Amino acid sequence: MNKDILCLYYSRTGNTKFAMEEIAAALDCECVEIKDRVNRDGAIGYLRCGLDAMRKRTRAMEPYETSRALQDYRLVILGTPIWAGRCSSIARGFLKRRGLEIQNIAYVLTHGSEEAYKDVYGQMDRYVERPHVAEVSLRIGSTGYHFWRDEFVRNVTNYMTAEN
Ligand SMILES: Cc1cc2nc3c(=O)[nH]c(=O)nc-3n(C[C@H](O)[C@H](O)[C@H](O)COP(=O)(O)O)c2cc1C
Repeated sequence: MNKDILCLYYSRTGNTKFAMEEIAAALDCECVEIKDRVNRDGAIGYLRCGLDAMRKRTRAMEPYETSRALQDYRLVILGTPIWAGRCSSIARGFLKRRGLEIQNIAYVLTHGSEEAYKDVYGQMDRYVERPHVAEVSLRIGSTGYHFWRDEFVRNVTNYMTAEN
């Protein structure tokens, strides 16, 4: 197992979980889910997600465990759904609280539309010390999904080899 990479994700309906588990399997690394202490089920939950994202509001997180301290991973890959054109408030909350502990970061976005949401990477970079080293924007079930997922895995592998 590659102990230098940590995949962390939030997923409300399973899409980001699906992509992140595939990416973690391809990279042979740890994969951990993060959540906040908010009920986000159903229509009310959906509205809450949209409002939280638009207001950039973050809430207390549920505890989660990683096998090493966050700062000991050479790369953290953070996966999040897009909510209202932004990262989920759970990903934002994680970055706000822990972003400065991270050596290097890469992003995986999942979304429902064909838009790539490239500006979201820059928004997330505001919470970390160094700009992200790799990124991918995925729509589960789209024709390009496997191509872009594999391209991301290749970019991460090349980055880890070059930095070694
Ligand atoms: C509150 C809310 C807002 C969303 N806003 C967008 C959006 O602006 N653009 C988009 O393409 N998809 C949007 N989506 C769809 C999700 O980004 C997409 O279904 C994502 O893959 C869900 O990931 P998950 O299953 O891991 O939660 C939104 C979903 C929710 C719940």
